[in-house]
Amino acid sequence: MTQELWTAVDNYFSNLLVSEDAALQEALASSAAAGLPAIQVSAVEGKFLHLLAQMISARKILEMGTLGGYSTIWLARALPEQGRVITLEANPKHMEIARKNFARAGVAEKVELRLGKALDTLPQLAADNRGPFDLVFIDANKSNMPEYFEWSLKLTRRGGVILADNVVRSGGVLEAASGDADIQGVRRFAEMVAKEKRVSATALQTVGGKGYDGFALLVVNR
Ligand SMILES: C[S@@+](CC[C@H](N)C(=O)[O-])C[C@H]1O[C@@H](n2cnc3c(N)ncnc32)[C@H](O)[C@@H]1O
Repeated sequence: MTQELWTAVDNYFSNLLVSEDAALQEALASSAAAGLPAIQVSAVEGKFLHLLAQMISARKILEMGTLGGYSTIWLARALPEQGRVITLEANPKHMEIARKNFARAGVAEKVELRLGKALDTLPQLAADNRGPFDLVFIDANKSNMPEYFEWSLKLTRRGGVILADNVVRSGGVLEAASGDADIQGVRRFAEMVAKEKRVSATALQTVGGKGYDGFALLVVNR
């Protein structure tokens, strides 16, 4: 099995099942043109996020890590009229590109962007009483995943969902002695989740156009 095959299968299902309109394609193109790294979710993953938000009838979504806003657009488009996504981004250049992409996709009204390191903006969000959220998507730097998990627990409603991306890292998650801060962040996150009685969780490995990775899916117990 090769990356080439994984990409071809992703493209097969993406072409059949995922209607990525001009605004989503433009979000990717403008991000690439501005030199942003191509580390956004794939089209099939974006649609997965969209369906997940619909499945739980999400009205309030929190995202950590906006980049050019590709996943945010998928999430925002799953929301009802009054629904909102709050998305946190540390890099002003990424935020600027994302803002334009939200306007082009017609979701600007539904998206609130907060600039700053998530560990600085999360306490502010809590102080502003912006929770509880129905869905939290953790997709910023991985080294702080334990802290992001703690904040997610504070900010997610009972029965709500927390999805954490990139927890497999091409299998790197198994390297207990790794000097990689991202791998250590994911491992500490997984260990915390395992001990946390307030959530029920699993983790799935994925292959696709973005390589070999995976995500953790948590439900906050009722
Ligand atoms: C994987 S990308 C997000 C991709 C996006 N969710 C998507 O799929 O379209 C991670 C983003 O997190 C941002 N980031 C990194 N460290 C951060 C931090 N401490 N606080 C907030 N955002 C951060 C990066 O600048 C980058 O834009």
